Amino acid sequence: MGQSSLASRHATPFADGGPRKMLIGADWVEAVSGRRFESRNPATGDLLATLPEGDAEDIDRAVRAARAALEGPWGRFKPDERQAVLLRLADLLDRHFDELALLDTLDMGGPISRTRLGRKRMVGLLRFYAGHATALHGETIPNSVPGEVFSYTLREPVGVVGAIIPWNAPLGMSVLKAGPVLATGCTMVLKPAEDASLSPLRFAELVLEAGVPPGVVNVVTGFGRTVGAAIAAHPGIDKVAFTGSHLTGQDIVRASAGNLKRLSLELGGKSANIVFADADLDAAVPGAAMAAFANTGQVCSAGTRLFVERRIYDEFVGRVAAFGRALRVGDGLDPDTQLGPLISQRQLDRVTGYMDIGLKEGARAVSGGARLTEGALAHGHFVPPTVFADVTDGMRIAQEEIFGPVVSAIAFDDADDLARRANASMFGLGAGVWTRDVRKAHRLAPALRAGSVWINCYQLMDPAVSFGGYKMSGYGRESGAAHLHEYLNTKSVWINAT
Ligand code: NAI
Ligand code: MG
Repeated sequence: MGQSSLASRHATPFADGGPRKMLIGADWVEAVSGRRFESRNPATGDLLATLPEGDAEDIDRAVRAARAALEGPWGRFKPDERQAVLLRLADLLDRHFDELALLDTLDMGGPISRTRLGRKRMVGLLRFYAGHATALHGETIPNSVPGEVFSYTLREPVGVVGAIIPWNAPLGMSVLKAGPVLATGCTMVLKPAEDASLSPLRFAELVLEAGVPPGVVNVVTGFGRTVGAAIAAHPGIDKVAFTGSHLTGQDIVRASAGNLKRLSLELGGKSANIVFADADLDAAVPGAAMAAFANTGQVCSAGTRLFVERRIYDEFVGRVAAFGRALRVGDGLDPDTQLGPLISQRQLDRVTGYMDIGLKEGARAVSGGARLTEGALAHGHFVPPTVFADVTDGMRIAQEEIFGPVVSAIAFDDADDLARRANASMFGLGAGVWTRDVRKAHRLAPALRAGSVWINCYQLMDPAVSFGGYKMSGYGRESGAAHLHEYLNTKSVWINAT
């Protein structure tokens, strides 16, 4: 079956080539400017929909709606009422999950075999936040002030949140931003990535269907330099929750200075994945390969700096390359596809550019190394899993985030110097360690400057476990109880009863 007939067979209301609108308050609206932009399938180039091209005026409207909602009935919702809408939203997400997974596959290229797997995590996240909605509380604090003076704290929603998300996990990111907003009683203006806005828009429909009052969640579609920048600078927004590149993160820090917004920044990475010779190699080979190749490498915590003990270096790197060569690359709608396309021509240029840089720097491409153009692949942004061997610590392909299925394999001899080398990166998001020796794992876990350290596994996640960065990978934590605190202010109340 041809690619486009596959797509039309699966056409859904949010990906039928027609015009979509965005959500402000209770209304699905056009941009004030009336302009639209196109959303395309990165596997085929097919037009999926056209979307309103919002700008600063639309952000103004959305912020007014979000502020009004905060000061309206939503602000008076009891914790159990916020819990109830979150639980209903979780059920709706569960019921409509296949449709949403399909939208992500069409819009950002992720294989359907992978996007469907997100159900447990995303429904689970919403239920986790629902649980917390009734468990948020302040403290009674004994003080030493003379007299009968009583002090306690209130935990209050920070207010209007601007959420700016990337294209690599559109639905998952929408859930991660909406969950704490709804649990804490904040309101939100969500800006999806211009390359993948369809599932966030459909998700917003479900938010309304769940009984969340209009204006609590608004979605403004459009580009980063306009809509995103307007969110970062807007004086009516109290906090920005951003996921994306460190360069845009820096822009947001600067733009947010006007009203000193609260910020949480989930940025990029160049995560070290360390394989000792004593590891269970049958587990470490697929573990190291998928740490780097999953989602076609478009994962912030991808394990893209692969440190391998020299004794096993050639064998291990060869096996990872063979694992990569065996992965089926293609249109994500094909249930057998394991790796889909890159999101855009821009990402394709960027990733193939780094492949050329790696070769020029003297690294050896054991597998991959250039774009795929055979047959139907010519219509999309496809690249093969690529393993670079003979990489040294300072090479650009060992230091810069590529965001494609490219792993840079580096040999090591001296375990005592490993933490220093692994930490010699401006990023610090994830790290992996593969060993059967519990002492090595225990020594490295505290020594690695990264927000998550995975021992004999990679990329495991759970709603109850925090995720976030050190250094240029950003600050703030998502998921886990710590996530809720990013959306709350602490107010101290003093009562003089002397
Ligand atoms: P980006 O960080 O520019 O885009 C992420 C989001 O930020 C999008 O919604 C975009 O519209 C918005 N944005 C862009 N410029 C903005 C601005 N000045 N103010 C406010 N919002 C803005 O990432 P992009 O350009 O799509 O990808 C470039 C590189 O960034 C990738 O190759 C990858 O290395 C990295 N990246 C990392 C991600 C991660 O999860 N760590 C996610 C996406 C990209
Ligand atoms: Mg798209």
